Amino acid sequence: MENRSLLSLSLALLSFLSPCLTALTPRVSFQMGSPGRHVTLFSSPDVSNTSTLLLSEDGDMLYVGARDAVLALDVSHKEAITLRSKLDWSPSEKDLEQCSMKGKKMANCPNFIRVLQFLNATHIYACGTFAYSPRCTYITSETLMMSMKPDEGRGRCPYDPYQRNTAIIVDGELYTGTVADYRGNRPVISRHLSEGRRVDLKLDDTLGWLEDPTFISSSFIPDEEKIYFFFSEVGREYDFIDKFIVSRVSQICMSDVGGQRTLQRRWTTFAKAQLLCQADNELPYNVIQDIDSLPPAEGAPADDTLFYGIFTSQWSVNSGRSAVCSFRLADIKSVFSGNYKVLNRDTLQWSTRVQEKVANPGECGLHNASDNALRFVKENFLADDSVRPVGRSVTVVSAEHSYTHLTVQRVQAANSRSYTVLFLLTDSGYLHKAVLLQSGAHIIEEVQVFEQPQPIKSLKLSTAKGMLYVGSSEGVVRVPTANCSFYWTCPQCILARDPFCGWDPNIRACVEASSSQASLGQDVDRGNVEEACNSVSFSHRARFSPNKLPAGELVSVSLNEVVRLQCPAASLLSQQLWERPNSRLSSDLYLHLEDGSLSFVATPATLGPYLCLSTENGYQQTVAIYHVQQRSGPVAQTPSSYNWPQNPPIATTEAGARLRPSAGPEGTETSQIETEPTPTSRDALRGRNVSLWEEEPKEAELRDRGPLQSARGPCYLKELVVVSVLLVLSLSLLITTLLYLFRQRCRSRTAPQARPPSRDSDRRTPADQEGLRGSQVLSKRNGQARGFACNGALTGSNGHLPNTPI
Ligand SMILES: *[C@@H]1O[C@H](CO)[C@@H](O)[C@H](O)[C@H]1NC(C)=O
Ligand SMILES: *[C@@H]1O[C@H](CO)[C@@H](O)[C@H](O)[C@H]1NC(C)=O
Ligand SMILES: *[C@@H]1O[C@H](CO)[C@@H](O)[C@H](O)[C@H]1NC(C)=O
Ligand SMILES: *[C@@H]1O[C@H](CO)[C@@H](O)[C@H](O)[C@H]1NC(C)=O
Ligand SMILES: *[C@@H]1O[C@H](CO)[C@@H](O)[C@H](O)[C@H]1NC(C)=O
Repeated sequence: MENRSLLSLSLALLSFLSPCLTALTPRVSFQMGSPGRHVTLFSSPDVSNTSTLLLSEDGDMLYVGARDAVLALDVSHKEAITLRSKLDWSPSEKDLEQCSMKGKKMANCPNFIRVLQFLNATHIYACGTFAYSPRCTYITSETLMMSMKPDEGRGRCPYDPYQRNTAIIVDGELYTGTVADYRGNRPVISRHLSEGRRVDLKLDDTLGWLEDPTFISSSFIPDEEKIYFFFSEVGREYDFIDKFIVSRVSQICMSDVGGQRTLQRRWTTFAKAQLLCQADNELPYNVIQDIDSLPPAEGAPADDTLFYGIFTSQWSVNSGRSAVCSFRLADIKSVFSGNYKVLNRDTLQWSTRVQEKVANPGECGLHNASDNALRFVKENFLADDSVRPVGRSVTVVSAEHSYTHLTVQRVQAANSRSYTVLFLLTDSGYLHKAVLLQSGAHIIEEVQVFEQPQPIKSLKLSTAKGMLYVGSSEGVVRVPTANCSFYWTCPQCILARDPFCGWDPNIRACVEASSSQASLGQDVDRGNVEEACNSVSFSHRARFSPNKLPAGELVSVSLNEVVRLQCPAASLLSQQLWERPNSRLSSDLYLHLEDGSLSFVATPATLGPYLCLSTENGYQQTVAIYHVQQRSGPVAQTPSSYNWPQNPPIATTEAGARLRPSAGPEGTETSQIETEPTPTSRDALRGRNVSLWEEEPKEAELRDRGPLQSARGPCYLKELVVVSVLLVLSLSLLITTLLYLFRQRCRSRTAPQARPPSRDSDRRTPADQEGLRGSQVLSKRNGQARGFACNGALTGSNGHLPNTPI
């Protein structure tokens, strides 16, 4: 009991200590149907619940276990996925009738295929729930013909289609983890299809070898001749906490044939251990969701095999969060070869009493050991130590995304270093591609794979074809692991930090790193554009020499019209900044809107060129150039010191993630504009992450305005400018006063989301403009709230996450 209160106290303390998490914002987000990431969907009206996937070794065929059917899909073509053959396998009317008479929902009575494995070169072994009476069968992989009468599937496949299971065939034998009864309360890890002197084996069921487990995955390690199972279950050793879930790894030896008297037809090599996914001073992420193995690099020992798993937490403090932890095979092995906990057979309580070791539990070759030794292993199967994650810490923690499935790949980058890339599926239907770096995980991109969030049953990676397959209830989706050609310029290619992609200076394109021999521009670790691009592409510098400035887009306006200039975001990690050559954007004339666009009233003082700069990872580039001029009548003169090219405008910016910068790849293009703003204003602009207008106009700004005005043409225009500026100043004073009053009144209300005005240069009355400013102030408050958000969840503008203030 003391234990219990101590634990709850420490849990409470830990929840306060939960450290700030860094935001995991995907750099680029591709919504459904975006041309940048080609997602292929296979679905068919007469096929549903396509949830079990099996990929052929060459990656040309994808076998799918669906509802009442097994499909063979031809995935060898880039354009489409085609149905090659289909096996219909459904329960009879009589079976269905019996199923519903037993009180089961009719919707759960069909045959849901849950086991699909290659048996040998010609056959596939498949099992389905078959109206709560599981069946298994042999299917020819070429034609999908059933080659024998179906077997009983008890212990190989769950009865209930919603129960999770795992199955793997090695050397023609089927190893499974599933529940072996109708009610779903007899879980078992077993071996089937054994022949000759080898016998089918299962767990001894007199003792609590498994405690209400949820099976996740199984993995065969050839060098060990062992199968590892991953699951979560109730941690009985923590008997002072009610229903504490723990994640486990368990092992069995393939050579096992059961004991001669003790443990006959039972595993003699079963052992299990706790998998810990926990950062220091944090609550454990105790519930495993998915796990995938990463074979060791070429030439490295099998002990370096890594297992990457997604874990969530049982506690509400951590709800919605998920963590990725990795475990080294060597660590798992050392835990299994250590001490074991002792089970008191009467009280079913575990203790860590030191005892004489009669045998080594988990050791292969115990099948013909003495009865005494077998009795010992029968009671000592829970390792005393827990398997700790690599680096004793979590690999990734995400506060804003709940990951459900993952797959992992080692990618050879251009510098011949290899990087670990994780593909993570969120429960909201997005696929995240993350590269693991020294500094932490960098999410290269997210791709929306399903319109509607839906339970995803499997995720398969085809390294041979560079494709990912996602199986869900609604269909099978294929996503290429990378699309380098999406990155248009060298800086974009480098900033992506995608180990799959590198910049080829010869063809001036971002290409797949593996497919090219040339030394590619790439910097996955730091994303340093200046180094990676300068060193490889000289030709670009010439293209944008100072005397050949790229022209901007001409924006013709009438005076007093509200102008809105768009600035497409280079990426979700970039920060946008507006500049005017020769001048600075004073806060009382310009509104910096949340989406990065700039809004102002067209007056003679605000006509002229505008640049939108985007900064990411220390690299600055011009993403848009506009030239605002008065419609009809005499075109307002540009500042004399600024030589804007008079040729027709070309560079227009596309909306959306796609970026086509109007300037070259070097970080120097801004300095190419001859008239740099004064250092003071420029530094002020640089140093600020938030919009400029939040500060009161300073003396310096008023001073800055002087030269600008004097630079402008004839005297009568000068008077007009002065009057306009004075008008605007007094207007803004009035607005500020009004706003102050308004804020006082609204203080208790929640701040609504700033809804940016629709498109540029929409006409607005001064009253509208006031509204514009009002909403901006409110969103500024939001902005401040964001700044304080501990985990940065609010800064992720992925579109699918509501920006709700904490
Ligand atoms: C890659 O991106 C380019 C540019 O957006 C697009 O045209 C192409 O279709 C994409 N390819 C794939 C396979 O997604
Ligand atoms: C594969 O297994 C099936 C079923 O046991 C058997 O009929 C077939 O001959 C086997 N094929 C090969 C190539 O071993
Ligand atoms: C254990 O079994 C192997 C065959 O699996 C046999 O060669 C060996 O003699 C047996 N050892 C004992 C002590 O019975
Ligand atoms: C089968 O698919 C339907 C939607 O098509 C879904 O509602 C149902 O939960 C799925 N059943 C199983 C057992 O996954
Ligand atoms: C601007 O943001 C960057 C990173 O987001 C941060 O390192 C820097 O300190 C911020 N600067 C200011 C002035 O807030």
